[in-house]
Amino acid sequence: MKILNLYAGIGGNRKLWGNKHKITAVEIDPKIAEVYQNFFPNDVVVVADAHDYLKDNYTKFDFIWSSPPCQTHGQYRYNVGVKAKGYKAVYPDMSLYSEIVFLTHYFHGYFVVENTKPFYKPLIKPSVVLQRHYIWSNFYIEEKKFKTKHIRSKNKISDYNDLFDISDSNIKNKRQVLRNCVEPKLGKHILKHVPLNNEKDKKEFAKGGIIKLKEQKINLFDCPPLMIPISLYNKFLKRNRI
Ligand SMILES: C[S@@+](CC[C@H](N)C(=O)[O-])C[C@H]1O[C@@H](n2cnc3c(N)ncnc32)[C@H](O)[C@@H]1O
Repeated sequence: MKILNLYAGIGGNRKLWGNKHKITAVEIDPKIAEVYQNFFPNDVVVVADAHDYLKDNYTKFDFIWSSPPCQTHGQYRYNVGVKAKGYKAVYPDMSLYSEIVFLTHYFHGYFVVENTKPFYKPLIKPSVVLQRHYIWSNFYIEEKKFKTKHIRSKNKISDYNDLFDISDSNIKNKRQVLRNCVEPKLGKHILKHVPLNNEKDKKEFAKGGIIKLKEQKINLFDCPPLMIPISLYNKFLKRNRI
């Protein structure tokens, strides 16, 4: 598969994806991008704004993963930062929702947008909740329990060595960068569900046919595009002249 890994960080979600895919990673911080490139030398790493890159390049990929920054949505800044410590309140960054709507309606491949659980009711219902993450996607992902990482109790960067050892890197806030990582097993779990992972589905996809997904409770009017194959949704739109 041709995969676009947006807001790549040092590659938590990508760590267990193996080497058989063609992966392009986009990260805005050159020091973080350099570390990613060292861990994944076969990936193409682009230092750029992922939000712009998505809009200009989405047609080139089969599967897109996006992890837009979560600070302005997350419960930590809201509860600990603003409420307890008196930090300034900020507008939640709406590029999260721009990307979900954009990918849902324009992208003819499969996507995942990942963010931590917000402090408010999400404006678009997520497809699945895994560990501390809300996942918006257009394919079925089985629910699964993942161990919580107890990130708040990990104080030294060596506590994260089983994840990535970045002690020699030039990254300034190493602990924050490590905390930002999606659990690699969770990234692998999601990739396993992308319907393009086997030859039969790939052929169907190339023909523009519907890929049969495992049955999932869906309500077209409640959450139309997020839980069903795009081709099926397009048929639904045509039939209903929307
Ligand atoms: C939550 S972390 C990503 C974690 C990553 N998915 C993982 O599992 O390791 C978000 C990353 O996006 C980067 N970032 C923030 N704004 C960006 C932008 N506009 N374009 C590209 N990268 C950006 C940050 O530097 C940070 O490394």
